[in-house]
Amino acid sequence: MANAELIENKKSVPFEFNNVAKNYDLATFLSQGYQKDLQLSASRMNLNGNEYIADLCCGTGKSTEACLNVLPNGKILGIDNSKEMLEVANKKFQNKNVTFSQADVMELDYPDETFDAIFMAYGIRNMPDYEKCLINLKRMLKPNGVIAFHEYSLNDNFFSQLYWKILGYSVIIPISTLLSGSSKIYKYLVQSVLGFPSPNKFVELLEKVGFQKSKRLPMPSWRRPILHTFIAYK
Ligand SMILES: C[S@@+](CC[C@H](N)C(=O)[O-])C[C@H]1O[C@@H](n2cnc3c(N)ncnc32)[C@H](O)[C@@H]1O
Repeated sequence: MANAELIENKKSVPFEFNNVAKNYDLATFLSQGYQKDLQLSASRMNLNGNEYIADLCCGTGKSTEACLNVLPNGKILGIDNSKEMLEVANKKFQNKNVTFSQADVMELDYPDETFDAIFMAYGIRNMPDYEKCLINLKRMLKPNGVIAFHEYSLNDNFFSQLYWKILGYSVIIPISTLLSGSSKIYKYLVQSVLGFPSPNKFVELLEKVGFQKSKRLPMPSWRRPILHTFIAYK
């Protein structure tokens, strides 16, 4: 499936991730600060450490690891719709408090108020309907529960857009394609970020669906103009 078709049919995105699953961790290892930034976003949830959290679009478990580090006595349910990404994740965690499930995040039907917290790293951008997804996530979150998104979102200015395009087309696509042997998902990455709401617009959307005290926090690195943690409460 070509990159433009993936944008039109985001439900197919997890199946494209199957093609890069084996080398995904290598690509992120070479992406300087990837794990550190995930850890910062997880810590921004300010959890007690004993909560039940859903790590949505958990992939190979990089975000799950970040959640585990802030949840020494908690439980984590990692959910992803790529069988092969989950296979990599499953091998990493012998911890009985971490479980994984294959499902489409757009279709989750856990009971109301199931989770104390929800973490979603590089996930919401892949949803075909952001608003519909957010409404369902809010339903599954307990009252006062926290939700955190770790996501590329370009500041509303020419510099951020240009910075992302240069980074995307001259670094991310060539290097990741070399490592994984497949360019589609990385071309999709660059395009989908260009189509994702700016930080202010995404905060507005969180408030529109009824989340409270929504805020965006930047990364303290070279990703500052392009990558953010979004925190909100039910
Ligand atoms: C960029 S990876 C992020 C993985 C992980 N959260 C991390 O931080 O490394 C995005 C993941 O989202 C998953 N994904 C995309 N759309 C999905 C959907 N509708 N339902 C479930 N998983 C989805 C993909 O399969 C992929 O593993």
